[in-house]
This record gives sequence, C-alpha cells and structure tokens, in this order.
Amino acid sequence: MPKILISEKIDPICPQLFREAGFQLDHQPGLTPEELGAVIGEYEGLVVRSSTKVTADLIAKAAKLKVVGRAGAGVDTIDVPAATAAKILVMNTPGQNAAGVAELVIGLMLALVRHVVIGCTTLKGGLWEKNRLSGTEIGGKTLGLIGFGAVGRKVAALARGFGMTVLAHDPLLNDSQITAGGAKPASIADILAGADFVSLHLPKTKETANLINAETLAKMKKGAILINCARGGLVDEAALAAALKSGHLAGAAFDVFAAEPPAADNPLLALDNFIATPHLGASTAESQVNVAVAVARQMIAYFQSGALEGAVNSVS
Ligand code: MLT
Repeated sequence: MPKILISEKIDPICPQLFREAGFQLDHQPGLTPEELGAVIGEYEGLVVRSSTKVTADLIAKAAKLKVVGRAGAGVDTIDVPAATAAKILVMNTPGQNAAGVAELVIGLMLALVRHVVIGCTTLKGGLWEKNRLSGTEIGGKTLGLIGFGAVGRKVAALARGFGMTVLAHDPLLNDSQITAGGAKPASIADILAGADFVSLHLPKTKETANLINAETLAKMKKGAILINCARGGLVDEAALAAALKSGHLAGAAFDVFAAEPPAADNPLLALDNFIATPHLGASTAESQVNVAVAVARQMIAYFQSGALEGAVNSVS
C-alpha cells in the first residue's frame, strides 16, 4: 500500500482514515525543511497544511511522490509547476473551511465598526470610554466581494442576513452565477467606488499581487473598510497604512499578511483603526475536521481509483 507522510499538526481523523483504508502512515509534524528533504523519498503521498513549503528542491528529492494533498484551500505554499513537471498531482479542499473563514470576516467587520478591540483594551486598562467609542451598524450598508468562490458566497449569505447589499466580482464567473450566489454582479471599479466594506476572496497569484495598492485604495469610497482574510500580498501594506492614517479609509482588518508573522515594524500594527488575527480563518474545530476528512478521502480515492477530486493540476 502507498506510504503517506502528514508533515503538520492535523485533526486525528486524517491519519485514522488513511490507516483504516490500509495505508502506511507517518504523522511527523514539525520536521525542519532539511529533515523533510531527508525522508520525503520514501513516500507516495504527502499531506500538508500551510507551514510545509513544498518547493522545487523538495520535489526533486521526492522520487516516489504521486500526490500532495493540501488540507485547506491555498496552494501558494506548493510549487505547483514543479510538481506538475515531476508528474505529482496537487489536491486542495476548497470550500471545506469556507464557513470558518466567512464567520471571521463578519466578526472582523463587526469588531471594527463596534470598536471591540480598542474598547476591550481600554476597559482592561481602567478606562470607560462609552462616549468615544460609539460605532455604526453593518445592516443597510454595501459589502463588495472581490472573488466569489466558496468563501465569498458564504460571506454573502451571512451578510445578507445582516441586511447588507452584496456586490461581487469574480473573473471566473458570469453574471448569472454571481446572481445565483446571492450577490449583484459588479466590476472591481464599481465595488471600490460604491462599497462601504470591501472584502477580498482571491488566491494570491502574479495577477492579484498588490491588487489593492495606492491607486486602487484612492478609488475606494471615503470612510470605507477593507477586510483581507484571503492571502497576504493582495494588499500593498504600506499604501494601506497611509490610507488609514490619512482617514481616507475608516478601518481595515487582516487575517493574513505578506510576511507571516508580520515584522514588528509593519506600519499597520501601530494603527488603532487596523485590527488583525494571526491567520485564524480556518482555525475552527469544524473547519479542521472538514479539511482533514476531505484531504484523506480525496487522496485515498486517487490511489484506489484515480479519482481527481480537488486536483489543481493535471499530470496525465
Ligand atoms: C486556506 O488556505 O485554507 C486557509 O488560508 C487556511 C490555511 O492556510 O490553513
């Protein structure tokens, strides 16, 4: 039977499913890149979350590897072209953690407009700033989603429940698909100009890097709020800090940064109207079970029958 390595902490259901299906399984979270490179040659399957960097160097050492399974959505930690060249299939589990990420998006929006973070910090410091920290509501406002995959659609559903108008843009979808997902189709320009909240739901690629930059920030509505729970590097962080300092944007919230963790001197971290979490979008008990089950099932099915669910490349 194929030998599988899980190189990160993962819900125990994942190794359990492989073992029940008769696979040989090693679960070794915390290997250094050198240690991983030294053992990868033994394995036909590798399961990763976001810490393991599946580089061209690692792939060159992976003589038997047939499939890399990503327990999560983003594959920016995997050199997919190098994997494809080595005839290694890469699979992800899109949608399995969408609820976790979407709930965090709404939570961060509410935290910003209700000053939850600063209110808690000042209260614990002995202040009672009831007058200064009066907020606004998200109901009745417009939310613009750039990217309308599984997470974007879930955010739209939650936002509609709060009484928001939802605009969405996704280059991979036509207008009727966006309408079916519960949003009004809009261009990026329309979203920037019209939305009170802009939330990003795109992968980071060469095309989307720094999509939100000084120029696009200037096109956002004055007083708008930017949320990025998708991928670091979609936003030019220095330009965002300038827009937050000038008051052009009222606030921003990130779960992801261009460099994770962000450098201590990242200008965003000094701003009261910027709040952040340490890439926690999918870090819920439910999402972690969902991705762990999905990645195991998909990889087992691939080895047993060649099923390609979740494949992001083609190696035939
Ligand atoms: C994902 O890509 O699935 C999320 O960002 C969560 C993660 O990186 O684990």
